[in-house]
Amino acid sequence: MKSIVILISGRGSNMQALIEAKLPARIAAVISNRPNAPGLEIAKMHGCETIVLDQRSYPERAAFDVALMETIDAYSPDLIALAGFMRILGDDFVNHYQGKILNIHPSLLPAFPGLNPHRQALRDGVKIHGCTVHFVTVQMDCGPIIIQAAVQIMPDDTEETVAARVLQQEHRIYPEAVRWFIEGRLTLSENHVNVSKARFDDAVLYSPSPGLNR
Ligand code: GRF
Repeated sequence: MKSIVILISGRGSNMQALIEAKLPARIAAVISNRPNAPGLEIAKMHGCETIVLDQRSYPERAAFDVALMETIDAYSPDLIALAGFMRILGDDFVNHYQGKILNIHPSLLPAFPGLNPHRQALRDGVKIHGCTVHFVTVQMDCGPIIIQAAVQIMPDDTEETVAARVLQQEHRIYPEAVRWFIEGRLTLSENHVNVSKARFDDAVLYSPSPGLNR
């Protein structure tokens, strides 16, 4: 059976969605760079092995990355899923796991990469916002897009209401993307991800269009 290592920093709701999706893969470990991440307790409650790699113990970024790589490699996972992992990973780390790291970002990339995407979306007055699961490459939030879901922005929205609406969609699309990865249904050509045999779901915008893959 394939295995997944999940990296978290905080609440862990996307991690929880991955665990509860009963994917055809083993969650080998949940690793947090912050000792007080609430997600660690959730992972333990689900019987997952948890590891804390406190980033404050590694003043040098590269040393943390090396320690993280060694910790992950002990599990030989097929996939590393970033789930609210709030730390930029160095090029060596990303290249070491090329094609094997996924991330979820709460915006319709390439719009609003980086921090505070909901604030950016409200500031710019967009009418449609959402979330994206993508492969991780060395350039932050720029890797090939696997799946996106869109939500509407309402006139009286705040960062909190938008975040909650987007989060619901995150919990739908991340397990879906991970399932596709585990089932070997994702192929990359250049910067484009093809999903074989994707089901159509009118609330989710797939990339590329699911109509092309049925
Ligand atoms: C999510 O919005 C995720 O997209 C972003 O950070 C947040 C983490 O939330 N990268 P959680 O820890 O998964 O609840």
